[in-house]
Amino acid sequence: MSELDVLKELESMRMAGLEALAKVENEDALQAWRTAFLGRSAPVMQVFQKLGSYAAEERKEIGQAANEVKVALEGAYAERLSELKERATAAALASESLDVTLPGRPVVQGRLHPDTQMLRELFSVFGEMGFQVYRSREVETDEFNFQLLNFPVGHPARDMQDTYFIEAGERGDNPILLRTHTSPGQIHAMQEAAATNPTNPPPVRIVLPGMAYRYEQTDARHETQFDQIEGLAVGPGITFTNLKATLSDLARRLFGENVRTRFRASYFPFTEPSAEFDIECFLCGGKGCPVCGGGWLEIGGCGMVHPNVLRNGGYDPERYSGFAFGLGPQRIAMLRYGINDIRYFWENDLRFLEQF
Ligand code: PHE
Repeated sequence: MSELDVLKELESMRMAGLEALAKVENEDALQAWRTAFLGRSAPVMQVFQKLGSYAAEERKEIGQAANEVKVALEGAYAERLSELKERATAAALASESLDVTLPGRPVVQGRLHPDTQMLRELFSVFGEMGFQVYRSREVETDEFNFQLLNFPVGHPARDMQDTYFIEAGERGDNPILLRTHTSPGQIHAMQEAAATNPTNPPPVRIVLPGMAYRYEQTDARHETQFDQIEGLAVGPGITFTNLKATLSDLARRLFGENVRTRFRASYFPFTEPSAEFDIECFLCGGKGCPVCGGGWLEIGGCGMVHPNVLRNGGYDPERYSGFAFGLGPQRIAMLRYGINDIRYFWENDLRFLEQF
């Protein structure tokens, strides 16, 4: 083919390309166009491949002309592409509409679990009385859960707290277990405080909230997992009167000036003397109902810290005394809100949770 013919041919390739491009209406068609007019086997590209067969002078002119056509087609392609994109965006926007008269979607309001609400209230009441919140582990050793609390191995009082053992095996008399009460935290707290000044340990005034576990038959007042809030005050000259005042004040702050409370003599290995602390059931006014049984609701145990326990915590019982108590926040919430079954707490039934 003569040079002149090739140049004419190139011109008609440009025309054909632009004409075809004008008919392209979407991006798929555009990609097909690109393969046909700019792809490896497109006519312009073929011209480049055959350049070698022309004389040097011709080669230069044909090459330049072919390049011009290619650049023109590429430019046209890019322009078309952005036109199509713009058109698609405009179409999408046009189809969008907002009906401001439609009712809004209700905002679902979350809330704190009733047990969490109860705990926070207890923290603030105890905070006002000068108690700090102290947390300790749920997985304990026999030593901390029992032995240091004056339950020697084989002590019958262990039967009061049926235990979930996690790892016995090699550990002999010191198996790992799920704490059956928050009382082992008393030892941790005392040891920690005593370590700061072993000869004159500082006074302690803490509440210790957290989960406890017992391998028990569940019923309206017992769960295998429940929480407790332990209290501990250790210092020079602390008396049983201080304990009674603290718990009675707590009851008044939670249930009002006229609430009746009662202390019943009891037994715990780690307190001496020991008592059980009851609050009059306001659901039945003390007559007796399914929640309380006999008109009073047992809220927890308490007593004066046993000398052995003080010693195990690093406090000399000749110089220090202390009181301790362990309360059931869920029991208190039951009394407060008239909940008649402790098993509702962990059931996650919205019909229950939504009431708080
Ligand atoms: N730890 C006891 C229990 O769970 C309660 C308690 C705590 C009693 C502190 C006395 C002092 O039954």
